[in-house]
Order: sequence, then C-alpha cells, then structure tokens
Amino acid sequence: MATRSQLQRRKADHLELCSSDQVEFRGRGTLLEDVQLLHQALPELSCDDIDLGVELLGKELRAPLVIASMTGGTREAAEVNFELSRIAEERGYGFGLGSQRAMQRQPETAWTYKVRAHAPSTLLLGNVGVVQARDTDTGALRELIDATGVDALCVHMNPAMELIQAGGDRDFRGCIDTFARLVHELSVPIVAKETGCGISRQTAHSIRRAGVQQVDVSGAGGTSWIGVETLRAHGQARSVGELLWDWGIPTAATICYAVECGLRVIATGGIRTGLDVARAIALGADAAGMARPVLEALKKHGRQGANRLLDQVERELRTIMLLCGAATLHDLRLAPRLLMGELRQWLAVR
Ligand code: FNR
Repeated sequence: MATRSQLQRRKADHLELCSSDQVEFRGRGTLLEDVQLLHQALPELSCDDIDLGVELLGKELRAPLVIASMTGGTREAAEVNFELSRIAEERGYGFGLGSQRAMQRQPETAWTYKVRAHAPSTLLLGNVGVVQARDTDTGALRELIDATGVDALCVHMNPAMELIQAGGDRDFRGCIDTFARLVHELSVPIVAKETGCGISRQTAHSIRRAGVQQVDVSGAGGTSWIGVETLRAHGQARSVGELLWDWGIPTAATICYAVECGLRVIATGGIRTGLDVARAIALGADAAGMARPVLEALKKHGRQGANRLLDQVERELRTIMLLCGAATLHDLRLAPRLLMGELRQWLAVR
C-alpha cells in the first residue's frame, strides 16, 4: 500500500505531467472525425434559438459539459478543485472530484475535496476506484459521499494505468459484483467511469446487468493514462507502457457501444473542441467531459484561460448546431450524419 508521501508525490506528478500535451495519445485518435454531420443551408433558425441545456443525473446543466474528475488530496489539488468547481458553477456545467482515496486514507485531506461551498447548485460527482470500492464497506463510501455532498458517485475502472504504476493494483476480480452492491446499497446514482481506455460492448453489458444506468466512457484519443504512468515508471514497466501507450477503444466507438447497451453516456476522452462535443452528442451521448485541456488552460493562463477555452468550445458547438438545423441537443441527436472510415470497422466488431 502506498505511503502518505508516495500518494502526495503521485498526485503532484499527475498534475504536473498533465499540464502539457506530452501525455496525449500518440498514434490513436478518438475517431470522432469519422462522424460527419450534414450541413443544412436552410436551417430556419436564429442563433438565439439554440438551447444547449440538458438534464444529467437529475440536474439541469446549462450546457452539455462536465469538467471531468481530476484531483484532490493536496494543497495544489484543492486550489484546482476550488477554482474549477467555481467555473462549473458559473457556467452551469457538471464537475467531477478526483479519486477520494486520499480522503479515505488520510481524513485530514478531506477539505481539499469540499467544493460544495464554491459550487452550491452544480452537479457534483464523487470519485472512487472500483478496486478501492470492492475493498471498502458501503458505510465508509457513504461517509465520503455525505462529507462532500456529491450528487452521484463515479466509480472508476483503470486497470491499464494500475498495471504500469509501481505499487498499483494487480487483482481486478470481484468488480462487477461491486457495482451491483453499490447500486443496491447507495442512495446516489453510480456512474461507471473509465479513465481513457474506453468501455467495450462486453464491459458495457456487465455494467448494465449490474444495474448501473450511467457511464462515463472515457475513451482513447485524449489523455493516455498509460502514458502518464509510463513517464513515471522505470525498467520493464516503462517498456510495457511505451508499447501500450495508445491502448484503448476510441471515444467514438465506445460511445456507440454504451448507447447500444441502453446506458446513458457522458463522453470523455479527447474532447477538445465544440465539434467533438457535437459529434459525441450526435452518437447518443447526453454530455461530454473534458479533463486535461481545462487543467492545462488553468495552469498556464489562470481562471481567464480556462474560461476562454470553454467559451470557445461552446461557441463552436452553437455554430455547428445552427449549421445542422438543430435548436436543441435532442435535435442534434436526430440530425443526419455519416459514419465513415475506421469507426465503421470498430462498430462492425462483435
Ligand atoms: C484524471 N482522470 C481521473 N479519472 C478518475 O476517474 N479519477 C481520477 O482521480 C482522475 N485523475 C485525473 C487527473 C488528471 C490530472 C487528469 C488530466 C485526468 C481521468 C479523466 O477524468 C479523464 O477520464 C481522462 O483524462 C480523459 O479525458 P481527457 O483528459 O482526454 O479530456
């Protein structure tokens, strides 16, 4: 088990490595570029008609965006959480806390996760690893939920990064039963969340059978968590990480797998523009999540930089909706589109 200082070092490394694009996938993209939306020369809409609103996990968002789970547990992480949760509140987005393992193991770090005062009306998502959840009784998880006042709990699946990380988890048995237990015993909705390798059809079915209704697919094509751990690894682990840097299911494909299974989807993993958001929604996602680019913008250009990035994404999304003749996200979901290229091959696989 990692010591307190190892945990803190790891958090600091993650924030530092993710503040630049050195940890992006190298040769694999999201395949969202294989979703072609059709231009409508007579959209019969005014810009004022475009409504980005959506309901997610029982709350209304002003726009279909979530600042995805990142951090907690250190002073620096607290600053990121407070700043980004305030931005989420002002912009009407969802906000995800990073893994609450530190909070559970070192209760004195709990304050670094307490963002509710900064984001009183925001859809707040808690976060634990599924292996951590498997090994924790439900009462203790309930305390993490109550202490942070979150609306739902993301339970992340991250076997790929754990296998590269020194001291990471090595035993992933019993996790499907864990999802079933949490759905049954916790009063908030459970979000089954990947962290950048996506969710296959098989995994989506297992999640669905366990009773989970909402996933964050976090597919391949954005931040590579194998990449992050590879840059922290030595020896054989580093070589394995270099080999598997681009491992995972592209975001566009994993959205389709989850939607087919009847799951509600937050599309995270390589969402970088409003066009990515539009394409994800056209594939059936309710909302899109962004993690690393928001952190990078905040670190490099402060609050203004993060807001500038998010303004740009919203402007792009609105522009595309008008050009598709879609006044609402519901219309966008029904808008004509072509699925092309490699994405079709990923969808043909059984
Ligand atoms: C993450 N991510 C993450 N996910 C999670 O479920 N729990 C966590 O604690 C973290 N920690 C974390 C730290 C940092 C610095 C980043 C950038 C990301 C994963 C994140 O939520 C998301 O799934 C992936 O990063 C893919 O999205 P992007 O970065 O390509 O937009």
